[in-house]
Amino acid sequence: MNAGWRESADDAIAAQARYYDLYALDYVNPLAPTNRRAPGILEPTVARDLIDDLAPEGDVLELACGPGGFTAELARHATTVTAIDASRRMLARNRMEVDLPNVRYLHTDLFDWRPNAIYDVVFFGFWLSHVPPMRFDDFWRLVRACVRQDGRVAFVDENDRSMVNDDVRIVEGVPLARRALADGRTLDVVKLFWNPDDLHARLRGLGWSFSIRRVHDIFMYGVGTSTRA
Ligand SMILES: C[S@@+](CC[C@H](N)C(=O)[O-])C[C@H]1O[C@@H](n2cnc3c(N)ncnc32)[C@H](O)[C@@H]1O
Repeated sequence: MNAGWRESADDAIAAQARYYDLYALDYVNPLAPTNRRAPGILEPTVARDLIDDLAPEGDVLELACGPGGFTAELARHATTVTAIDASRRMLARNRMEVDLPNVRYLHTDLFDWRPNAIYDVVFFGFWLSHVPPMRFDDFWRLVRACVRQDGRVAFVDENDRSMVNDDVRIVEGVPLARRALADGRTLDVVKLFWNPDDLHARLRGLGWSFSIRRVHDIFMYGVGTSTRA
């Protein structure tokens, strides 16, 4: 019954990248098949308000950009947006739907990437919950390497109150949630529903000062800066 469940962080990372590439055309489509109890989709107007609140000026890096709901909002404020994703189909959709000259795209696996530039703002939407717990510190080291010393880092994601909408199993320390594709196949993604207070404390321990607030109960918005040189 558990065949197909990934048993290590590396396998889980590969499986979720594959899932999102195959799901790219259905992503944020309310009619697409889902095995969640509720989809956890943020209203576009709320996304717009959050990014207006952030007002990300200068050179912005967006990690795991997906089809571009946030990319378009970031690009309204930024001089440039560098949008990164491991899925070619997501990037193609983003390029087509966002279609803005100040956005450039990079196809790469975030867990195997180092920046060659420093950004004013780093943003990621609905990505942090997909970082396996044992890769969390490495991920935040990567974020620190991407943002200028006094630059800002911001994220939007689901929070612990959205856990009721999903079925998560822990396999060798990795929280996994099964996802269905339109053709009936299933793949697992990493899904960690952070409590904002726990996340805040964890980030403080890693040398970040964050303000994290719940948004529409099941989402959260965080913005912060590094406290380390
Ligand atoms: C939940 S979606 C979020 C998309 C977008 N940020 C949003 O808010 O709608 C997760 C995204 O992460 C991308 N992704 C998955 N694994 C990745 C990896 N290892 N490196 C970079 N991107 C990855 C997927 O292709 C997908 O676009």
